[in-house]
Amino acid sequence: MSEFLLELFYIVGCITFIVGLKMLSSPDSARKGNTIAAAGMILAIIGTILFYRNEAGEPVGNIPWIIGGLVIGGGLGYLMAVKVQMTAMPQMVSFFNGTGGACSALIAAMELFSSPSTETGFLVVAYLGIGIGTITFSGSMVAFGKLDDKISDIRSRIMPYVNLVLFAVVFGLIGYATFAPQAMGDTAGWWLLGIALIYGILFVMPIGGADMPVVIALLNSLSGIAGAFGGLLYGNRIMLIGGILVGASGLILTALMCKAMNRSLMNVLIGNFGGGASGGGGAAGDQTIREATVNDVAIMCAYASKVAIVPGYGLAVAQAQHACHEFEKLLEDKGVDVYYAIHPVAGRMPGHMNVLLAEADVPYPKLVEMDDANPIMPNTDVVIVVGANDVVNPAAETDPGSPIYGMPVIKVWEAKSVIVMKRSMRPGYAGIENPLFFHERTKMLFGDAKDTMNKLIAELKTL
Ligand code: TAP
Repeated sequence: MSEFLLELFYIVGCITFIVGLKMLSSPDSARKGNTIAAAGMILAIIGTILFYRNEAGEPVGNIPWIIGGLVIGGGLGYLMAVKVQMTAMPQMVSFFNGTGGACSALIAAMELFSSPSTETGFLVVAYLGIGIGTITFSGSMVAFGKLDDKISDIRSRIMPYVNLVLFAVVFGLIGYATFAPQAMGDTAGWWLLGIALIYGILFVMPIGGADMPVVIALLNSLSGIAGAFGGLLYGNRIMLIGGILVGASGLILTALMCKAMNRSLMNVLIGNFGGGASGGGGAAGDQTIREATVNDVAIMCAYASKVAIVPGYGLAVAQAQHACHEFEKLLEDKGVDVYYAIHPVAGRMPGHMNVLLAEADVPYPKLVEMDDANPIMPNTDVVIVVGANDVVNPAAETDPGSPIYGMPVIKVWEAKSVIVMKRSMRPGYAGIENPLFFHERTKMLFGDAKDTMNKLIAELKTL
């Protein structure tokens, strides 16, 4: 009976994971999808505690430890999730990926060190769990530190070669320890832990700013794969399925992000993209910039027939999404057609802009993805770039020497006029200058995006 009930809990849990994941694909249903999948996870945990029996028919022991872990881990997770700023979400995702990797590596190490088995299937799964889980842990913690500005990039020309050697050593050791188990005994597990830890650090360390989203997606996928190995070790189907779902969706996301930046994964991992080219502020050379006033922009927009808003990371920093929505509604009331042009990697995490705008109740049909927005740019009278920079940089199309060359961008310069809202001439995440700011059809409107939006709203109301 226990076995039947456990299977039932697991099947329901698996269904909720799949339904939840499906619902995450639309901002309208994402919140509900997340809750449903989390409820499935809670069911699976309760089912395991109540109905799991080992081969000797004994129930789960160490209940106080398990409950203690659930309360401490759940409490900390809850506090972090409630307190985190929207702009710090990528760091948090990275931190959680890392803890997932550490957990899988610990599970695999415990099984390996406590079992006398030398069966190939068991060993390969345990070693892969240790290796991949540890790389996920150390890589994610470095990614966390870099996104949080606590660690800076460390690069050198030999690093890609060192990393290739370490990669070969990690997987060579896994093969050797699996097929010649007597040769190293338990020391293989310890060596693997140490080398994988170093490899995870060195593999993320040189990766430049603009490539971090791809790496986070990849680490997320690795955390799922490591979890799936844990599921295999325990013969636990829900852990296996959960791990596979995370691993597969992370890989799909990685592929999509690479496509959005027009780069191969290999290029991302060893290409050192996004290095700090021009780090300073101010216009280079004799390029001149044109400034607009709030009044100019309000008039231009009020008398336009089509206006596009291109949000970027600065919108998130300024928390200007609600003001943006109000501005858009005021223009619509004046008969202006307004849409938001969304770049897939605008902001600092996948779907960042979609989440922010959904939070401000911007209707989803108003969000136009980059591939659909670019063809309508020439028919757009005014484009307002709100705290975006790299994702509207024409150098991606015109300058083969630029680190973002080849990355698809929103071609705002094809619109009839462009207003760029930002605080200064400082570069964006990729650390490079943006020729858009000096374009003949561009005017800069300096200031914090939320303040400026509020001034624009006030001005529009007077027109
Ligand atoms: P960025 O290129 O980072 O530019 C953001 C701009 O916002 C900055 O130039 C900044 O200029 C401005 N800004 C900051 N705070 C502001 C405020 N309070 N008010 C007004 N403006 C403000 O952003 P983007 O165009 O969204 O591009 C995203 C970049 O991040 C890409 O390179 C992308 O590859 C990378 N990235 C993306 C992700 C994902 S998955 N989306 C994850 C990590 C990295 P000032 O300082 O002059 O104001």
